Amino acid sequence: MEQFKIVVTDYIEPDLNWEEEELAKYDNVRFEVHQLKFAPQEELIAAIRDADVVVVNMAPMTAQVIGALERCRLIIRHGIGYDNVDLKAATSNGIRVANIPDYCPEEVAEHTIAHLFACYRQVVFSRKVLEESSRKGLWDFSGVPRMFRLSGKTLGIVGCGRVGSRVLRKTKGLEMNYLICDPYLSEERKRELGIECVDLETVLKGSDIVTLHTPLNEETHHMISGPQLRTMKQTAYLINTARGPIVDVEALALALRENWIAGAGIDVYDKEPPDPSYPLFGLENAVLTPHLAWNSEEAGWDLRVKILEDIRRFMEGKPPRFVVNAEVEEVLGRRK
Ligand SMILES: NC(=O)c1ccc[n+]([C@@H]2O[C@H](COP(=O)([O-])OP(=O)(O)OC[C@H]3O[C@@H](n4cnc5c(N)ncnc54)[C@H](O)[C@@H]3O)[C@@H](O)[C@H]2O)c1
Repeated sequence: MEQFKIVVTDYIEPDLNWEEEELAKYDNVRFEVHQLKFAPQEELIAAIRDADVVVVNMAPMTAQVIGALERCRLIIRHGIGYDNVDLKAATSNGIRVANIPDYCPEEVAEHTIAHLFACYRQVVFSRKVLEESSRKGLWDFSGVPRMFRLSGKTLGIVGCGRVGSRVLRKTKGLEMNYLICDPYLSEERKRELGIECVDLETVLKGSDIVTLHTPLNEETHHMISGPQLRTMKQTAYLINTARGPIVDVEALALALRENWIAGAGIDVYDKEPPDPSYPLFGLENAVLTPHLAWNSEEAGWDLRVKILEDIRRFMEGKPPRFVVNAEVEEVLGRRK
């Protein structure tokens, strides 16, 4: 029987006992767990050199590390992003790289809706009003920004994939109108969702809240900058739970300071965590959360279950559910 060695380079869970128990059910699997996020490269290489499958959270899988792997055929990135894995090196070495892009769309949609309410109902600002009124001994609502009824307003969704489509579904009871921009949705998918798409400018012009759910790539980098913010309504809010660099944060800071728009809800940053000089710190019309949209007990478990599913698929000779370096198939094809 073929023997498999599965090695975890680093992990964020309290322990991986569940994975160990699950994999102990197979006679032909050796499962090793390390915490090598900050270890010297030689130590990382020594731990994974003869692994068939490497599961990595944050340890840097550089070209040098990948080049030293003798048997590896699959690297699984614990999470969605995979910028700590040198994809080119993996591809040229015939190693599939998998990520788990579908463990937390419910949470990110819920967090987006939390931002929607936090912005529209001034939830964070209200605390200051409460404490000041308490000090004065009488209600003082003089500094409260103008508030509007959400019902009947228009929600602009930019990117209607896993997260965006859930925001659409989950907000249906709020009696809002929608403007949706996603140039890559198939006609069939649009029919399924019961939507029509418009261009970005139409979304920006017509929406009371604009929420971003695109991937970060060359096309979407700074997709929202000065001119786009100028296009939005003065009473509108911008929400970004997708990726920091989709929004030009300097332009957003200016827009918030000069009231081009009413406010913003942000969960993601160019640099993470952001430096203390982050331009939105100190702006009262910015609701800020620390890249936690993904987080829940359930999502944490889904991630573990889905990683184990990919390990099982590997042992059955099947590719993982999501391969991020599709070009590797050509390399693997040439080797057959
Ligand atoms: N804050 C968090 O904790 C967290 C967690 C998970 C995901 N995310 C981020 O959320 C975003 C959405 O994730 P997802 O799983 O829904 O991705 P997805 O791939 O399922 O959906 C993205 C959608 O954006 C569309 N799109 C691509 N380019 C576009 C453009 N230029 N204009 C409009 N639409 C465009 C695509 O067609 C697709 O439908 C990603 O940026 C992801 O990294 C954040």
